[in-house]
Amino acid sequence: MKTLSTVAAMQAVAREQRAAGHRVGFVPTMGFLHEGHLSLMQLAREHADVVVASVFVNPTQFGPNEDLDQYPRNMARDLELCASSGVDYLFCPSAEEVYTPDCSVYVDEDVLSTGLCGASRSGHFRGVLTVVAKLFNMVMPDVAVFGQKDAQQAALIQRMVRDLNFPIEIVVSPIVREPDGLAMSSRNTYLSVDERAQALWLHRVLKQAALQASEGADGSAVLLSDMRALLAHEAPSLDVEYIEIVDAVSLVPVESAVSGVLIAIAAKVGKTRLIDNVIL
Ligand code: PAF
Repeated sequence: MKTLSTVAAMQAVAREQRAAGHRVGFVPTMGFLHEGHLSLMQLAREHADVVVASVFVNPTQFGPNEDLDQYPRNMARDLELCASSGVDYLFCPSAEEVYTPDCSVYVDEDVLSTGLCGASRSGHFRGVLTVVAKLFNMVMPDVAVFGQKDAQQAALIQRMVRDLNFPIEIVVSPIVREPDGLAMSSRNTYLSVDERAQALWLHRVLKQAALQASEGADGSAVLLSDMRALLAHEAPSLDVEYIEIVDAVSLVPVESAVSGVLIAIAAKVGKTRLIDNVIL
């Protein structure tokens, strides 16, 4: 595996690989890698001849009161994990390399980014879409892989690729969970034992709703109130930010939780904000 830290070196490799007729697969990450990321890399390998991963903690997607400074980092471990997961090139640029000091062009999305996480994380998706568009121009992939755990992010990237005509195939990879069901996340490292036990209820209520819906009780209003009631009873210290039942592509709320619908939840456990979801 080769490590690259400048845009010029990354673009030179991308041009070389494309000229050789190789299909380039890309997995952008913010590092502190876990099994979830490694599954994205494996999927990229299935779709491409050459795999590029990036590790870049993108400052523009963190709000002023969010965890940019505390965001967990372990570059030595990330390097090892990428190398053992078959990554060919690891791109880890500095913030100065990615953002020119007077940069003034951003990618904004007006519809899908306003609800769910966008409602409380103002500017977050502008930061995500801008950095992903920039990384796409740096890595020039044929295919890029994103995790379903960030369902709104995945929907927004698909929309950006469609609306801005990026010639890139987007593959969305299923959520990877711990054996007890907790969705893998770099932020799980913040959780105390008690908080982790409460956090498990995010997945449990999603499973309950999916089961109810599969048994025919698919009215969104009832499902949502049952989920809220179960959380209030079993995990009272979870501070639920939203639970929503939406169309998985348009992210518009739907009345019935039928096949293809996304049930998404966000909650704070102590100071840690967690998200999870299920697609029926
Ligand atoms: O999902 C993430 O880790 C980040 O939002 C991404 C896509 C790497 C952009 O910084």
